[in-house]
Amino acid sequence: CGIVGYIGLNQAQKVLIDGLSKLEYRGYDSAGIAVLDKDNAIKVKKRKGRLKNLEDELEKGALTGTAGIGHTRWATHGEPSDINSHPHCSIDNRIAVVHNGIIENYIELKEELIKKGHLFISDTDTEVIAHLLNSLYTGDMVETLRLAIDKIKGSYALGILCNEEPDRIIAVRKDSPLIVGLGEGENYIASDIPAILKYTRKVYLLDNDEIAILTRDSVTVLDESGREAGKQIFNVDWDPGDAEKGGYDHFMLKEIHEQPKAMADTLTGRCFPDKIVLDDVNLDAETMKSINRIQIVACGTAYHAGMVGKYLIEKFARVAVETEPASEYRYKDPLVDAHTLLIVISQSGETADTLAAIRLAKEKGARVLAITNVVGSSIAREADDVLYTNAGPEIAVASTKAYVTQVGCMTLLALHFGLLNGQVDKATMKRVTSGLKDTSALIEKALGDHDKIKEYAYEHFKIDDMYFIGRGLDYYTCLEGSLKAKEISYIHSDAYAAGELKHGPIALVDAGTVVIAVCTQENVFDKMLNAIKEVKARGANVMAIAKEGHDEIIPEVDQVFFIPEMDDEITPIPTVVYLQLLAYYLSVARGCDVDKPKNLAKSVTVE
Ligand code: G6P
Repeated sequence: CGIVGYIGLNQAQKVLIDGLSKLEYRGYDSAGIAVLDKDNAIKVKKRKGRLKNLEDELEKGALTGTAGIGHTRWATHGEPSDINSHPHCSIDNRIAVVHNGIIENYIELKEELIKKGHLFISDTDTEVIAHLLNSLYTGDMVETLRLAIDKIKGSYALGILCNEEPDRIIAVRKDSPLIVGLGEGENYIASDIPAILKYTRKVYLLDNDEIAILTRDSVTVLDESGREAGKQIFNVDWDPGDAEKGGYDHFMLKEIHEQPKAMADTLTGRCFPDKIVLDDVNLDAETMKSINRIQIVACGTAYHAGMVGKYLIEKFARVAVETEPASEYRYKDPLVDAHTLLIVISQSGETADTLAAIRLAKEKGARVLAITNVVGSSIAREADDVLYTNAGPEIAVASTKAYVTQVGCMTLLALHFGLLNGQVDKATMKRVTSGLKDTSALIEKALGDHDKIKEYAYEHFKIDDMYFIGRGLDYYTCLEGSLKAKEISYIHSDAYAAGELKHGPIALVDAGTVVIAVCTQENVFDKMLNAIKEVKARGANVMAIAKEGHDEIIPEVDQVFFIPEMDDEITPIPTVVYLQLLAYYLSVARGCDVDKPKNLAKSVTVE
């Protein structure tokens, strides 16, 4: 979900809607705003569905006033509906609340409040907060909020309006991100930077349990004990244009095309023929020696980058690496201790499961290294070492440039570990770093095949199923390609290690079944040709990706894309671009909402 809040001299509605439009990628089941009008009455409008529905509603009657809060929702408790949308109010409309996170003990609190005579109208956990604040209200919202926090269990970022304190907005966070934007004669709150980037680049990153009090002219942040927190201003160096579509039909297409630059930004100042320089990674040879276990944990796309990382670290640094989805890791009593290095990967730096994995591992004494895209995010702040992907803001729900830069970072890290361990020789360093430096150009070359991929997608978009097959590093690329396809085109798709085909999946292949065969790994190229022959013999339509020079594949497949000759370890970066474009055009051809696929959200800050 996304939160935005404004207090200043201008009309709040415009700033709130504008902010929400930048946050829709965080959830788009419903949207709503609450504004304090000139008589200090809280006025609320909220609508199920996309922000557009709310905007249409506001066309009929605007909410006027210069202080307000807004929310865009990804439903957790209670179906998407007008009633369940935020803001939620106390029944007398004294208090309005927007909330990200989950209140774990809301049923218990709700029952207590019902006994006291409170009437509830929604199924949400958030409504409980509005009622709880109202029942505890002392005349001072900060004091009241402290009382409420003592009773609440769970995660929250809250923006609060109270009609008895019309000159301020109160905000607090615990385990859900929230920032304060600092303006002149106006101030903001937001769950993410893009929401307020147009208005200010100066922000405070709130820490857990900090309470922010915003007036038009001032922002006070109090720590848990009620003392001024002494916040540092964080200057955002993004270009506001980075968070706009810039002439592309969709953010996803724009972000796919930004990949050459993103890769260059990832590598700048870090990648040299004889060394890897990673400023915020303070692991030395001594520390590496004490580490006997590396675990890589992440969710979704980032998890696939982690699999590539495992392969490369094992190859270059000769250390055993385990990978696991964060949601599994956190509940399985993992083998983790002071000799473990946990590597987490997260575009947003806010994913709840990944954050929980960090906390668990740290509690057991592990060292934590984070690869993330968002400077100042919770994950960046809680990890011991950080490697930023430098991909710039990624808005489309389906991750593209974040993925390739995560893979780039993983390659750098694998070489770095290899050097610290004395396992990487000079020739390998030279070869792989030079390959990495070529990735921007290699991605450009892949983007050049754009029209041919589009054509293939438009020929096949009516399919119900598709399968991705590959071996070694190509298998991970397949997992990512398959996730991309199902996320945005809703075509059922699976990825298989090609050698596993004969052990089951081939039963699914019939005449016309689309199979995407990724065949860039030299040592298993012939094996891949065999797999292709097996599916062709059952009538499959095969699109392949192979390295130039392997013309023998041409007669075996229906369509082939050639990537230039390059080291096998570099191939995941340009190869995935073909699969991203394929997913993109399948989605467009099927008339899907590319940037905001159903049921998904960009960043999942709840379990
Ligand atoms: C959500 C998104 C995915 C993303 C995953 C992990 O599920 O829809 O695209 O890969 O979260 O997000 P993170 O920000 O931790 O990389």
